[in-house]
Amino acid sequence: MQPKLVPWIACIAAACSMHLEASAQPALFPPVSELPARAELPDPLVCLDGTRIETKRQWVKVRRPELKALFAHYMYGPLPAVSARPTSALKASYPDFLGGKATLKLVEISFADPAAPRLDLMVIVPNARRGRVPVFVAMNFCGNHALTHDPRVPLTRGWLYRSCAGCVDGRATETARGSQAADWDLAQIIDRGYALASFCSTDVDSDRAEVSDGIYAWLAKRDGDAAPPEPANRGTISAWAWGFHRCVDSLVRDRDLDPKRIAAVGHSRNGKTALLAAALDDRIGLAIPHQAGCGGTAPSRGKIGESVKQINDRFAHWFNAAFKQFNEQPERLPFDQHCLVALMAPRPVLLSNAIEDQWANPSGQFDVLRAAAPVYRLLDAGGLESGTMPETGRLSAGKLGYSIRPGKHSMTRDDWRIFLDFADAHWRA
Ligand code: GCU
Repeated sequence: MQPKLVPWIACIAAACSMHLEASAQPALFPPVSELPARAELPDPLVCLDGTRIETKRQWVKVRRPELKALFAHYMYGPLPAVSARPTSALKASYPDFLGGKATLKLVEISFADPAAPRLDLMVIVPNARRGRVPVFVAMNFCGNHALTHDPRVPLTRGWLYRSCAGCVDGRATETARGSQAADWDLAQIIDRGYALASFCSTDVDSDRAEVSDGIYAWLAKRDGDAAPPEPANRGTISAWAWGFHRCVDSLVRDRDLDPKRIAAVGHSRNGKTALLAAALDDRIGLAIPHQAGCGGTAPSRGKIGESVKQINDRFAHWFNAAFKQFNEQPERLPFDQHCLVALMAPRPVLLSNAIEDQWANPSGQFDVLRAAAPVYRLLDAGGLESGTMPETGRLSAGKLGYSIRPGKHSMTRDDWRIFLDFADAHWRA
């Protein structure tokens, strides 16, 4: 046992004996060089000090808070510290959307300070409904306007990726409308009785190492700092997760929606974000991090697909500075991504994949589910119902869901069909 770990051990032991929730004590976490190297995925039911978690209560009171603090300290950085409460305003509501099948609501989430980020949340609710409906909250890459041709949806104001169709010099133009409508297939979601709420990552902070134009720029100004944090210590995935939470604040107050059935969805980097957001916010009842891969649903350990070093080198701003210290030694991480999945327990989570997307390490993602399963079992939540990957195109049973389909890295209407099947299996069975 390492002497430097003693203060942390004392803290956990005190929390256990006093039946108090262990408070996050990141200052007491050891430096990376003192963390033990372990090639295998660490047991999610063993605390940093070696204490074994035996009861549900210990999981909830001790290990869960410890894991959240560990992820913030060594990988994602903390969620942005914003105490101001945003206002959610319904700007417009159109009951004739999708040929009258749905109501389109345009919601604006804003703060009193005009320098703060402003989020455009597009909420689409089926008109044929009895009672409150379940809702997918999904962060998109190219703007709400890319999901539909309807000209009433405002074009995204901020910077957008060059790869987004219809964007010129990083800004949306009228030709960008509906450029991703085929993949999002709103009618399918509505016909299956679900609502969709979507927002664009760029409203929170743009995905550029060299520029922070959203939440981090605002916080720096508020705190009197000359500039937002350096890219290598920024944590943009945490910022986007904060954006999910602000959307959930609004959705739980929408009387058309069921606050107990909110599912977070995202593709790739947006999937990494959806999982983090759901892991940290129990109001989110189900998570679908689609093809999220390294830094999300794939193990940081091991050799398949993207490595910690590769992701940190290319996307320095996604994670904090501590995470860079694991570039050459991911086996020193005191957790792996199965622990993030375990934070979802007992809620359902689906890791959906594509065969040609080996960069996201589909087989490693199944190992992640297997390694998270003991936590679901401790909570009597079932979890993984088969020890082997399901056949291609088939959705596995159980709260720890898995699917893999032919094809490449993308999110298509067929993927949405699987998402809907998964949500039905857990919310409508
Ligand atoms: C890159 C990156 C992945 C990420 C993906 C995406 O491929 O390496 O980690 O998931 O972009 O977000 O599309």
